[in-house]
Amino acid sequence: MSAADEAAILLESAASIADLERMVDRRLNGEPIEHVVGWAEFCGVHIAVQPGVFVPRRRTEFLVEQALALLPPKAVVLDLCCGAGAIGAALRARSPRVTLHAVDVDPAAVACARKNVHAPVYEGDLYAPLPPPLHGTVDVIVANVPYVPTGELPLLPSEARDYEPLISLDGGADGLDVLRRVAAGAPEWLVRGGRLLIETSEEQAAAAVRAFESSGLCARATSDDEFGATVVIGTTHE
Ligand SMILES: C[S@@+](CC[C@H](N)C(=O)[O-])C[C@H]1O[C@@H](n2cnc3c(N)ncnc32)[C@H](O)[C@@H]1O
Repeated sequence: MSAADEAAILLESAASIADLERMVDRRLNGEPIEHVVGWAEFCGVHIAVQPGVFVPRRRTEFLVEQALALLPPKAVVLDLCCGAGAIGAALRARSPRVTLHAVDVDPAAVACARKNVHAPVYEGDLYAPLPPPLHGTVDVIVANVPYVPTGELPLLPSEARDYEPLISLDGGADGLDVLRRVAAGAPEWLVRGGRLLIETSEEQAAAAVRAFESSGLCARATSDDEFGATVVIGTTHE
């Protein structure tokens, strides 16, 4: 984002000159602008983002586009590792007949998601907090899981390292620990022919596809240069 764009966002968001001065100070100290103003734009939707919660990335809009292309009418969608709830909120904005459920393990993220998605947001580890009747009823699971390999965390920009929680970034030794657990659990919750979409990096895509296949899903990876994004898409067998 350009400095001029940031200045416009700060001016639009500040309630007074004193407020503006406080915001500029926070930004100059390196805090992400989305935390400073309390919102991020994602797929054209304003998403409330509190300090301490992962800031939705523009590249994740590619995951939303891929999911929209696969949604059946009146789809049941599960947004796992929902963070502020950006993916689910964007899907609902573009496809209002979606029935949405969202989960995150971090109480701060859950509180934030509850402001953004007018749907149940469960707190807990992946599928654990979901109501049992949801078994076998989900058409599409979308997940932007933490996928930074632990050894690469020090290479992240300080906006991420210093202002976003470790649990939102750290994907374990190869970055795929959470992805593997999401893939392993997905067939139990999906309808026949249901889909699982997870954002990953281009370097991780081949290993992520194998993890999906080991979980009994047919899988493929798709990338987009403009978004700089890669998504692995799995389908349960009919
Ligand atoms: C990369 S952030 C993505 C957030 C959101 N989906 C987005 O795209 O803006 C990953 C999220 O996964 C959550 N998370 C990490 N481990 C989890 C787990 N075992 N169960 C549920 N949520 C988890 C984190 O709290 C964080 O909010």
